[in-house]
Amino acid sequence: MSLLVLLCILNIATATAAHLRPGFYSESCPEAELIVREVMKKAMIKEPRSGASVMRLQFHDCFVNGCDASLLLDDTPNMLGEKLALSNINSLRSFEVIDQVKEALEKSCPETVSCADIIIMASRDAVALSGGPDWEVKLGRKDSLTASQEDSNNIMPSPRSNASFLVDLFNQFNLSVKDLVALSGSHSIGQGRCFSIMFRLYNQSGTGRPDPAIEPKYRNRLNKLCPLNVDQNVTGDLDATPEIFDNQYFKDLVSGRGFLNSDETLFTYPRTRKFVQVYSNDQIKFFKDFAKAMIKMGDLQSGRPGEIRRNCRMVNSRSVDTLLES
Ligand code: HEM
Ligand SMILES: *[C@@H]1O[C@H](CO)[C@@H](O)[C@H](O)[C@H]1NC(C)=O
Ligand SMILES: *[C@@H]1O[C@H](CO)[C@@H](O)[C@H](O)[C@H]1NC(C)=O
Ligand SMILES: *[C@@H]1O[C@H](CO)[C@@H](O)[C@H](O)[C@H]1NC(C)=O
Ligand SMILES: *[C@@H]1O[C@H](CO)[C@@H](O)[C@H](O)[C@H]1NC(C)=O
Repeated sequence: MSLLVLLCILNIATATAAHLRPGFYSESCPEAELIVREVMKKAMIKEPRSGASVMRLQFHDCFVNGCDASLLLDDTPNMLGEKLALSNINSLRSFEVIDQVKEALEKSCPETVSCADIIIMASRDAVALSGGPDWEVKLGRKDSLTASQEDSNNIMPSPRSNASFLVDLFNQFNLSVKDLVALSGSHSIGQGRCFSIMFRLYNQSGTGRPDPAIEPKYRNRLNKLCPLNVDQNVTGDLDATPEIFDNQYFKDLVSGRGFLNSDETLFTYPRTRKFVQVYSNDQIKFFKDFAKAMIKMGDLQSGRPGEIRRNCRMVNSRSVDTLLES
C-alpha cells in the first residue's frame, strides 16, 4: 500500500467534515431508527448470517474514503466500484438488505436518510439483535458521488495480515491497539471462505507447513472443511457461536481456534495479546470497548461533496459538474 496516497486521502478527510450527532433525523424522519431496526429484524429471521454480512459493510465502507456508502455503488461504464475490489469480490453480501432498508425509508421520508447512515444504523442493529451491545449512533453523513476500487485494493487488509501490520493500519485511522482488538471481535458473528485460510492450512508464509498456532483438533476440522481440492467458496464459522455476538471469539483465540490468520495473530503478538486475554474473561468490557470503537470508526469522513442518494446503488441523476458549480 502507498502510505503517501493514504495520508493524502486522510488529510482531505479532516478538511470539511460534516457535524455528526445523535438524533439527526428526529425532526425530518423521527421513525428512521425504528424502521431500520424492523427491517434488520426481519432480514435476520429470514437469514441469521445477514446480520454479520451487513455489519461487515461498515468496516469496508468507512476505511475507504470515510463512511460515505461508496461501497454500495454498482460499477458504471465510467467507474469501477468497490464491490469487486480484492477484499470484497465473492465475499461481501447482503446488499439487498440495505436496499430493503432504503426502500422502507424512502416510503416514510423520501430523500432524507443517507445510505451512509443506513450502514451505520443497520450495523449497530445487527450487533444488538445478535445479543451484543446496543449504542447510540451519530448521524448526518452524506453519500459519495463516486467510489474507488483502487483505494479499496490499497487499503483493505488481507486475511493473511499479521497483528503488527494491522496495528499500523488501524493507527493511520486513529484507531488504537485496543480499538483494533475490540473491532476484530466483530468476527464473533459470521463466516469466512476456505479461500481465506488455504495458505494457513497448507503453506503458512511459504513454509509448506500449516500455521503452528492452530490447535491440532481444530486444524483437523478445518482440513476436513477445506481439503486442498475444495471449492474455495465453501464457508466456515468465524467462531464457535457464529450467530451470537459474545466474547466466544476471544476464548477461541486463546485456545488456538481462530479462523483467520489475522484473528489468531492477535493472540500470538505481544502488543495485542493482553487485550485478547482481557476480553476473553470480561464480556462486559468487550461490549463497552466495541461500541466505542464502532462509533470512532463511524466518525471517519472524506470531506468530499455528497448527496442523499435515492437508490443506494447509484448516484442521483445529476452530473458531478453541476453539483460542484452550484
Ligand atoms: C482487523 C482486520 C480485519 C481483517 C483482516 C478482516 C478480514 C475478514 C475476512 C477475510 C473475512 C471472511 C471473508 C471471506 O472469506 O469471504 C471477514 C469476515 C467478516 N468480517 Fe472482518 N476483517 C477485519 C476486521 C473487521 C472489522 C473491523 C469488522 C467490523 C467491525 C469486520 C466484520 C466482519 C464480519 C461480520 C465478517 C463475517 C461476514 C459474513 O458472515 O458475511 N471485520 N473479515
Ligand atoms: C508482518 O507483516 C508485514 C507485512 O506483510 C511483514 O513485513 C512483517 O515482517 C510481519 N511481521 C512479523 C512479526 O511477522
Ligand atoms: C487523527 O488525529 C489527528 C490528531 O488529532 C488528526 O490530525 C487527524 O486528522 C486524524 N486522522 C483521522 C483519519 O481522523
Ligand atoms: C508455498 O509458498 C511458497 C512461497 O509462496 C511457494 O514457493 C511454494 O511453491 C508453495 N508450496 C506449495 C506446496 O504450494
Ligand atoms: C466463487 O464463486 C464465484 C461465483 O460463482 C466464482 O466466480 C469464483 O471463482 C469462486 N471463487 C473461488 C475462490 O472458488
